[in-house]
Amino acid sequence: MRSRLTVLVFALAAGCALPALAGPPDPALQRGQAIAHDTCARCHGVATGEDSRNAGAPRFVVIAGRYNEISLEDRLSEIAKQGHYEMPPQPISREDIRSLTAYIESLAQP
Ligand code: HEC
Repeated sequence: MRSRLTVLVFALAAGCALPALAGPPDPALQRGQAIAHDTCARCHGVATGEDSRNAGAPRFVVIAGRYNEISLEDRLSEIAKQGHYEMPPQPISREDIRSLTAYIESLAQP
């Protein structure tokens, strides 16, 4: 009985640890990833290996290669303020824009 309980506790602990391992460890990156999933994933592939649902929208991995960190942050500020394509303007704070930028840049292939 006791050993069964131990196994259960270990199984639960492992189950909780897995999602943390799969995501980026940095809180800013995690925040950026969450915004990307909530706001951008409707059209863009926002994770490595994820295809865009809107075929015209570049995957974030590709965007990461096109911009450097400074130009991407500027571009994302514009996109948030003005919207783009069918995406209406989004009230994304300056800090969240930075997190989103850091997340997209973290996808860049070396
Ligand atoms: C309704 C669909 C849609 C949503 C939602 C959307 N996008 Fe896009 N986005 C597009 C399309 C379509 C393009 C391709 C435009 C082109 O290159 O012709 C694009 C292009 C881009 C580009 C590269 C081209 C450029 O204008 O600099 C960036 C960067 C970008 N999107 C960021 C974002 C971010 C960040 C979000 C979430 C906050 C987001 N998009 C949400 C449709 C969308």
